[in-house]
Amino acid sequence: MPLVTTTEMFKKAYDGGYAIGAFNVNNMEIIQGIVEAATIENAPLILQVSAGARKYANTVYLKKMVEAAVETSGLPICLHLDHGDSFELCKDCVDSGFTSVMIDASSHSFTENISITRKVVEYAHDHGVVVEAELGKLAGIEDAVKVDAKDASYTDPDQVQEFVEKTGVDSLAIAIGTSHGAFKFKGQPRLRFDILEEVGKRLPGFPIVLHGASSVPQEYVKIINQYGGNMPGAQGVPEDMLRKAASMAVCKINIDSDLRLAVTATIREHFALNPSHFDPRQYLGPARDAVRAVVRHKIVDVLGCNGKA
Ligand code: G3H
Ligand code: 13P
Ligand code: ZN
Repeated sequence: MPLVTTTEMFKKAYDGGYAIGAFNVNNMEIIQGIVEAATIENAPLILQVSAGARKYANTVYLKKMVEAAVETSGLPICLHLDHGDSFELCKDCVDSGFTSVMIDASSHSFTENISITRKVVEYAHDHGVVVEAELGKLAGIEDAVKVDAKDASYTDPDQVQEFVEKTGVDSLAIAIGTSHGAFKFKGQPRLRFDILEEVGKRLPGFPIVLHGASSVPQEYVKIINQYGGNMPGAQGVPEDMLRKAASMAVCKINIDSDLRLAVTATIREHFALNPSHFDPRQYLGPARDAVRAVVRHKIVDVLGCNGKA
């Protein structure tokens, strides 16, 4: 099976009240851990590449490793550009074989967001590629761009119909209180389910995307802090909230930070317990196993997409 788009995945997810996991990939062990988990759980998969990942690992390497994942697993896998910030970057990914791209023009005005997104949609659709856009602004860190909480803004449900109609976009990321990174809430976690519900009413049958959806497992934070790290106050989105979102219009849930925490906690602990190790396989292997465990848990206990490949 070649790489697939998200069209079929999202239709089934919407109708079935579950979500597909979109996991960020940066190296071979992360890709393998995710794909092993999806294979065990027979789950459809979105592997996503940020601009930072492209810079770090080289798109050709990532693309070839994702192709290897398709070949070895036989799963329906979508290769997605995460947070494309320009038409040129999206075009480059379309041209190099991605099956889905995100154009994130959410920092622009509503009108500019529409026109930039429309341009990407026209090019992508001509090439059989689907497009995700963003309306509203999440707080947190993406690449080198930090959006302060004060500059973040919830999605306005009054704008979503016009946005989707004018752009022709295939899915829409909305801001309901999640943020990127490991420090999401200062106090009580709170998501604006009222906005999600209203957006769902305005766009019946249309797939919604939730970014910044890591749960920040405290067992990993504890290990990191125990072995010399410094992450007091790290806090994520409670999993019951994600399950609720998945049962509503949310069809794609983005997870990156939880994989980073799993890798970092595992490697920190590994070196604390095995100070003489210097073969990368001795610590990258356990890190890959930890990624697999996190992703299996997400697929089964949070997303509900196990058995849906
Ligand atoms: O949305 C942000 C993702 O976690 C990707 O992060 O841009 O540092 O690769 P990155
Ligand atoms: P987290 O930082 O919560 O994992 O979010 C990742 C994300 O939204 C990637 O686009
Ligand atoms: Zn994101």
